[in-house]
Amino acid sequence: MNAATGPGAQGGGRYGEAVFRPGQAGEGERIDFGALAYDDLTVARLRALGVGPGWRCLDVGAGTGTVSRRLLEEAEVTSVLAVDRDVRFLAERPVPGLDLLEADVTADDFAPGRFRLVHARFVLMHLPEHRRLVTKLAELVEPGGVLVLGDAVDLTSDRTPGTPYTTVMRAMWQGLRDTIGTDVSWVPDYPHLLREAGLEPVAAEIHVPPLLPGSPISRFWADTWQRSRAAMLATGLVDDAAVDEAVRYLDSDACAALSAGLLTAWGWKGENASR
Ligand SMILES: C[S@@+](CC[C@H](N)C(=O)[O-])C[C@H]1O[C@@H](n2cnc3c(N)ncnc32)[C@H](O)[C@@H]1O
Repeated sequence: MNAATGPGAQGGGRYGEAVFRPGQAGEGERIDFGALAYDDLTVARLRALGVGPGWRCLDVGAGTGTVSRRLLEEAEVTSVLAVDRDVRFLAERPVPGLDLLEADVTADDFAPGRFRLVHARFVLMHLPEHRRLVTKLAELVEPGGVLVLGDAVDLTSDRTPGTPYTTVMRAMWQGLRDTIGTDVSWVPDYPHLLREAGLEPVAAEIHVPPLLPGSPISRFWADTWQRSRAAMLATGLVDDAAVDEAVRYLDSDACAALSAGLLTAWGWKGENASR
């Protein structure tokens, strides 16, 4: 079923409804495995961009809030407004300076103010109308501030040697596209999208965590396949045995695959941009 036409399709996307339901046991842990794989890089990048004391920050689709909290505790920013459609995981671990807002970022009335840092990671790839959202998030950046957006890049291609991992990843992307509307094909265009939104200079980088047995990224993919198993099977590209084989492969020394990466792109709003 296509997410744009299926029942329940709506502007805010179908993340949290079709596959990754927040109330499902273990969903917070799954997000945390992804965070463990990428947070060091994200926080280091944000600090290298100058994020620190005095900064008011917006973390969009904040999930369990690992980045929001590290911005407060390590970068010592002044405040973070963590926004999510479902704030249950954020509410579990309050820290001083962390404010929560349960809201749909795609809604026309989403206007939480202006911030020196606006950050969203692994969010826009799941939502419809990513181009409009980049423009909208750029409007929330105050002059002199920065918009930092990160999403997954699929590094398999027609020429990638077939492994149990690549077979299942292809089925996963197709299954998530059919159920949620997830689309990572446009992610490499982020620098252009940021420029189109009036930001400059813009830049981007890709980080690919190694798929080592028992590593957070390996556990993240195994958990994600478990969640999305029905969607993957519905594509007809894999069966249960193929998914089980890929989980075993990830946990073995035979694994020689390249994980999907995190592409982080950022763009600055000029000091003289209209306030
Ligand atoms: C894959 S998680 C990423 C969490 C976190 N940013 C991270 O990188 O660890 C995506 C998050 O976006 C949130 N989300 C999805 N659609 C949303 C929407 N329309 N408005 C606000 N949040 C949304 C989900 O609830 C979920 O917490």
